[in-house]
Order: sequence, then C-alpha cells, then structure tokens
Amino acid sequence: MNGGPQHGAASALEVEHVTLELGGRAILNDASFSVRTGEFIGVLGPNGAGKTTLMRALLGLLPVSGGSIRVDGQAVVRGNPSIGYMPQIRSGLAGRRVRGRDFVAMAADGHHWGLPHGSASVRADVERVLDLVDAHALAARPLSELSGGERQRLLLAQCLLGKPTLLLLDEPLISLDPRHQTGVVDLVRRVQRELNITVLFSAHELNPLLNSLDRVLYLGNGRAALGTVDEVITKPVLSQLYGSPIDVMRVNGRIFVMSGDVEIEKLDHAHEEGEDAHEHDHDHDHHDHGHGHGHGHAAKGKHTHNV
Ligand SMILES: Nc1ncnc2c1ncn2[C@@H]1O[C@H](COP(=O)(O)OP(=O)(O)O)[C@@H](O)[C@H]1O
Ligand SMILES: [Mg+2]
Repeated sequence: MNGGPQHGAASALEVEHVTLELGGRAILNDASFSVRTGEFIGVLGPNGAGKTTLMRALLGLLPVSGGSIRVDGQAVVRGNPSIGYMPQIRSGLAGRRVRGRDFVAMAADGHHWGLPHGSASVRADVERVLDLVDAHALAARPLSELSGGERQRLLLAQCLLGKPTLLLLDEPLISLDPRHQTGVVDLVRRVQRELNITVLFSAHELNPLLNSLDRVLYLGNGRAALGTVDEVITKPVLSQLYGSPIDVMRVNGRIFVMSGDVEIEKLDHAHEEGEDAHEHDHDHDHHDHGHGHGHGHAAKGKHTHNV
C-alpha cells in the first residue's frame, strides 16, 4: 500500500523514513512512500495533519529531522525549478487591480530564473501558461473583477511557469463553491495529463477529487498512507490515522468519512471562512486564528484553523 517504486515507472517523489518536526513536535514520523511520475495524488487528512508542512519540506523550506526526500531523483533544494507551488494562503488577491497577465508575469520575475522583466522568454512563457489554462480572455482583466475560480486559473498558470515536473497545490478548493471546485479539479487534471506532470493536490474533502485522483496520500497522527481510494479510505486505515474509530460510507458514488454520526470533513472545517473574508499578507505561510471552537474533534489536540 505504500506505493513503493514499480518496474519501469520513474519516481517523482521518494520519501524514506522521513520525520518532520515543528516546535519540537513530530508532524510526520518515520513516513515512507513513493509517487510515480505523472500521478495525480490527492493529499488528505484532518486540519493540522501536516499537508502544508509536507509540501514545505519538499520545497526545502523545512529540513527533515530524519530520513530522506528525493524529488525527481534529486535531493531537496530550495528554489527547485522543477517544482511549481501554489501556497495555501492566497488571500488579498480579490482586491487587486493588477491585470491577470501582469499578475502571472510577476511570478516569473519573482522566482523563476531571474531573467530581466519583460524579456522575450518570460513573455513567451507567460503566453504558454495562459494557453495551458485557457485564460487569455481573463488575462486582460484585473484580478478584482474575476471570480474565485478564475483567479485560481491564473494561480495555476503561475505554477506552470518554467515548466515544472511536479506541482504542489495546497488546498486550491478552499472558499470555492462546488461548481468552481469541479472546474478547478478538472482543469488541473487536464493540464496534468497534457504535460504528464505529477500533482500533489491537498484538500480537506475527498469527493471533489474522486474522479480525478490516481491515488490518495492520507496524513494523520504523524503517519502517512498512500494507496488507491479502496486501499486507504477504509475503516482500519483511517481509524489509525485519526486515532479514533472512523466509519466509511459510500453513497451514490460519494464517500463519507464519519466519526460517530458526524461527517469528519464537515466537522473539521465547519468554521473555516473564505479567503475573501480576510485580507492577509501574502507571505504568511501559516495563519492560526486561534479560535477556541469547543466542539469535539477526532484528531485530539490538533485543532487549528488554517484559512
Ligand atoms: N511554525 C510552526 N511551529 C509549530 N507548529 C506549527 C507551525 N506551523 C504549523 N504548525 C503545526 O503543525 C501541524 C501541521 O500543520 P499543517 O502542515 O499546516 O497541517 P495541514 O496543512 O494538514 O492543515 C499543525 O498542528 C500546526 O498547528
Ligand atoms: Mg494546510
């Protein structure tokens, strides 16, 4: 179930006995799994399970406390051009007057290859990624006039600059309504197949991803389980990851993960607010509101609300 390397398939990502610690606490403890090139992996797990932390480790923003990570066969490095990253915190975009095309180009100037602003190769790459996400019409309009789903398309375009082979998309569905969620998932799936790139797509709800994902990486209680939906979304595996009894119900092609009679994904995020409700600084990686919501929680002691 841990998806070890298979014959003939290159590994996009190899995580071997990895421990990740924050504030002296192990967020991931001796986790091992391997993702093949071209896979679409849904990264799931309760709030605070370590989805964002794992992505930051792949980016070299958090050193491992133990074990090793290889991306495309190479040791982790900061600023790895083969990784495209969409951070979880993307707030403040709704109010911006900057035009879509310039917004995409800003990412190329910022951290891709340090080419001079407006160079021909940057401009060509911006047009290439706008094509990929079918956003030429949006690109002429200011961000403030776009819907959440449209802004998400431009953010995806930014991630594709410089032709990465691995995309880390951290909760792209937060604050989107179900119709836009489906649109974003379908778009990522189409682009991923077109380019044959690997995608780690984190979400706190499984159902929007069900038709698109190849395998699921479920995090919880310091552990990681990687496998097909049928292998991972089961009572024994999830009960271990949540550290409490979990039931899995399948209804009309949807899957409900239940703790007692409460749907766990709803429980986890009942108080989460849309990004547009707040204006945060861009560079905040973590934003713990510290609300002391008093409802019961399956992942004990891990009650944080990242928006
Ligand atoms: N800078 C930090 N110092 C200490 N603990 C942190 C820090 N950032 C996040 N955490 C904690 O690490 C855990 C994992 O967080 P995170 O990776 O954001 O989870 P997820 O993305 O799955 O919601 C949470 O319990 C969170 O509170
Ligand atoms: Mg997160």
